Amino acid sequence: MSTSVTQSTSTSTGDAPASAALFDRARAVIPGGVSSPVRAFNAVGGTPRFMVCGSGPWLTDADGTRYVDLVGSWGPMLLGHAHPEVQAAVKEAVARGTSYGTPTVPEVELAEEIVARTPVERVRFTSSGTEATMSAIRLARGATGRDVVVKFAGCYHGHVDSLLASAGSGLITFAVPGTPGVPASSTELTLVLPYNDRAAVEAVFAEHGDRIACVITEAAPGNMGVVPPEPGFNAFLSETCARHGALLVSDEVMTGFRASREGQWGLDGKHEGWVPDLMTFGKVMGGGFPAAAFGGRTDLMEQLTPTGAVYQAGTLSGNPVATTAGLATLRLATDAVYDHLTAVGTTLQDAASAALAEAGVAHVVQATGTMFSVFLCEGPVRDFTDASRTDTVAYAAFFTEMLDRGVYLPPSAYEAWFCSAAHDEEAVQVVLDALPHAARAAADAQAAARTDGGATA
Ligand SMILES: Cc1ncc(COP(=O)(O)O)c(C=O)c1O
Repeated sequence: MSTSVTQSTSTSTGDAPASAALFDRARAVIPGGVSSPVRAFNAVGGTPRFMVCGSGPWLTDADGTRYVDLVGSWGPMLLGHAHPEVQAAVKEAVARGTSYGTPTVPEVELAEEIVARTPVERVRFTSSGTEATMSAIRLARGATGRDVVVKFAGCYHGHVDSLLASAGSGLITFAVPGTPGVPASSTELTLVLPYNDRAAVEAVFAEHGDRIACVITEAAPGNMGVVPPEPGFNAFLSETCARHGALLVSDEVMTGFRASREGQWGLDGKHEGWVPDLMTFGKVMGGGFPAAAFGGRTDLMEQLTPTGAVYQAGTLSGNPVATTAGLATLRLATDAVYDHLTAVGTTLQDAASAALAEAGVAHVVQATGTMFSVFLCEGPVRDFTDASRTDTVAYAAFFTEMLDRGVYLPPSAYEAWFCSAAHDEEAVQVVLDALPHAARAAADAQAAARTDGGATA
């Protein structure tokens, strides 16, 4: 069945009957009705919107309702939806065939672009960020001959078995699986530490230093909301790893080509004079297609097959259509684009903060480069324990009010808000108009929770 889209669009939603009907159909054939869990709106309630088209800063759902998009496909859509030059490049690429299973020109050009923007010397493409981090860890283990991986609580690196781990009882306790289906044997070599905690890093190296293959960290966490590394923290990780013969894997799947032109590294390592041993990329570099990568120093990367012994492969890795989209996106991601993202981001951060303050809702807005998020709790938020204090009930009310007023925010309190080069005055104004109402809805939800709490206490 095809989905019809009403021609006249509006930014006032109310019900979403077409999305509701599609959700029913979806749930009959897809677990939870979604291909990735957070899309299901479980954290915020209501009907997930089935989007049928995107244009610039706008998404239109199956009911014909238009939204200003602040999710950006969870990061990739740096230039906005359906950018004409990206589309033209993709159409041309598709006309030449969609996959050959051979080396291709666009993958070389995209690798050259990534090498030009970041400190990596060699790049290997994958189809998802999950594969990129999984492969980087395999390479780190292969190169060091060690097994233990250190990660930070609240950092997400994709659904790699060994990284789906929560902390055990103590700081230096090997991790337990965070989900059924991951055997304990997959996480028993993973250590989980609190983010931004130098003492914990020092302690773990003191106890297990000669067994640690790598520390993997989000270059600036965005998956517990944006929690910037404290000044010098990434440099400290790099130096500590080097001192102990371990590798630093900097996961820039989210921050890469987004936080700045050169990702988070462009905000810290470039100025501080250090480079990660391995880096992972995804999202923006795929231009809205399934493409990701990992890269690093030549001596490490050449240990991959076929030059080295560490096996890594992928049928669609470096796919010519995906790498064409990524290349077009990166070539169009000029300094002017990042200046615009900074300006729009600052406007939205200031407005969100002002609206929440006016409504009396405790909050903190945190940013790294052009990436930011809003926590509904007192700041600062410097690790996952702090992030867990955000008021998820108030966020659900805030989210729903924004949605009803034509703004599509991430349907979870623990996510970054992404704007694009296409967010113009009209789109920004829709957000600015909606924010005071959403802030009041959050305040009302908090008042109701206090009343309920009082009634049952
Ligand atoms: C920092 C980070 N690493 C890895 C991943 C996994 O990427 P993918 O969803 O493409 O597998 C994500 C996804 O959100 C991410 O944010």
